[in-house]
Amino acid sequence: MYLAEIYCIVVTLEYGALLAFRENAGAEEMRMGKGFTCPMGDDRMRGPVCYADDESIDRLLESIVSSVKDFTESQHEVIDRLTRIGSALSAEHNLERLLEMIVDEARKFTSADGGTLYIVDEDEKHLHFEIVQNDSLKVRMGGTAGKIIWKPVALYNDDGSPNHANVSSYAAISGEVVNIPDVYHAKDFDFEGTRTFDASTGYRSTSMLVVPMHDHERNVIGVLQLLNALDSSGKVISFSAESRRLTESLASQAAVALVNNRLIWDLENLFESFIKTIAHAVDEKSPYTGSHGRRVVDITMRIAKKINDMNEGPFSAVHFNDDQMNELRIAAWLHDVGKIAVPEYVMDKSTKLQALFDRIEMVKTRFEVLKKDLEIQRLKSGMKAKKAGQGGNGSALIEEMKNVEEDYAFIETVNSGSEFMSDDKIARVKAIAEKTWTLGEERIPLITDEETENLSVRKGTLTKEERDTINNHAALTYEILSQVPFPRKMKNVPWYASTHHEYLNGSGYPKGLKGDEIPLQSRILTVADVFEALTAADRPYRKGNTVSQAIKILGFMVKDGQLDKDLFELSVNEKVFLEYAKTELSPSQIDME
Ligand SMILES: [Fe+2]
Ligand SMILES: [Fe+2]
Repeated sequence: MYLAEIYCIVVTLEYGALLAFRENAGAEEMRMGKGFTCPMGDDRMRGPVCYADDESIDRLLESIVSSVKDFTESQHEVIDRLTRIGSALSAEHNLERLLEMIVDEARKFTSADGGTLYIVDEDEKHLHFEIVQNDSLKVRMGGTAGKIIWKPVALYNDDGSPNHANVSSYAAISGEVVNIPDVYHAKDFDFEGTRTFDASTGYRSTSMLVVPMHDHERNVIGVLQLLNALDSSGKVISFSAESRRLTESLASQAAVALVNNRLIWDLENLFESFIKTIAHAVDEKSPYTGSHGRRVVDITMRIAKKINDMNEGPFSAVHFNDDQMNELRIAAWLHDVGKIAVPEYVMDKSTKLQALFDRIEMVKTRFEVLKKDLEIQRLKSGMKAKKAGQGGNGSALIEEMKNVEEDYAFIETVNSGSEFMSDDKIARVKAIAEKTWTLGEERIPLITDEETENLSVRKGTLTKEERDTINNHAALTYEILSQVPFPRKMKNVPWYASTHHEYLNGSGYPKGLKGDEIPLQSRILTVADVFEALTAADRPYRKGNTVSQAIKILGFMVKDGQLDKDLFELSVNEKVFLEYAKTELSPSQIDME
């Protein structure tokens, strides 16, 4: 019987009793509160009310009031419970836990021994087993316990007709609830699979309630199947109409929660893919830093997880929750996004004369032309001397040609980024640059002022302007990311990402922040960024450092007050770098245990 029907009967009875009450009780007896005298005596008092002086009517009234009270209380409890379940379902953002919760709550509501949750797959042709629970058999499958690999239930037969033989499939296709007292006596559906399952487990499947889950557009997105309702003594009984109604209500709440969860997941997935695509685009700009973004994420998250694991030491009180971990991970993926605006030839400048191409070839051509000019000059003066009957071997010119060759060899050597430029070397570059070669009628310097400036870079390949352009990527990272409307739980992404080149002693960039001005998350990113750069084997003009070499350099940076000492020590002592190296670096780089 539906609760609404019970309620109608109770209300009808109550109204009838009230009429009887009015007939039997005088107005003065209906008074409430102090000073009231019940004509039947004090023992007939029911709280402040005496119902009537007719005992049978009074008993009837008493029982009605009690029933209404019980009914109201139970309804209140049900509504309260459904509300709590509704809130809990909508608050659960983990899909696996949500699916489990749906079955758990439905089983609790109906005292069902078992429950199965199926989800309609994307092509709407199958029902996938998502959750299987059975208390008697001590079975809990799916959800947080991992995917169920059972064959899905086909919604359609091979000839394309709807599969009405399977009860879950029928419920999904028809959208109707199926309530079966005993599946062994059910004629409309094929329970062969259930019988086989029972035979293998010794279980006896009896009552079954199968409820389709409709989304807001009335599409069936899943099926909730409950098995063997139990009474208070543990005996299997049929699912009541009340159970059916409650399960339907819960199923529709669960469907809404599931759809919301999916929408959130889809959005997060889209967001995540988008971020990785951007990070990939940044890495793809350079053939030398192909996996920098991904590797920095790897090291960053290893350090953050290790911090969370620490029960003692400087990080014992630090714990990043799931949202903070996610925020840090996204910041790590996007930390170099500002490099999008840095020209590739600057980012990947592998020699001092590198622009869109290595200009050493242009310089070489000038030296060759000069050499040829000297050769021509030597031949011409030789012929002239011969005509004049004079001797001379042109040794001065030969010497000059040799000098040109040596000068070029020197320029070619110092063009390399690994060449440290001392004052002497810079002076020699300048001296060579003053020599000239002939183009047409014009005498032109062998090396231009701009080339001289590049060749005079003391360390590496970058001029100050180029270094500034590259360093500006951190400021650009902030400019770009601060335009993105990150959700509240990721609001710090632009800040963490853009401060990955700040050093504790204030010598970093772009803001020159110091100490506590730099959040722990940014310090982690900095350590990860430096370690990756030091050990990367794909950088131009230098091999990747070994783990111990990289740790040594990081140690110097800690001593100089650039990097966080505690983070460095944690990463070394807890073997974070070593574990990373084992997965990402070549065996030849792993030189410690
Ligand atoms: Fe960077
Ligand atoms: Fe980086």
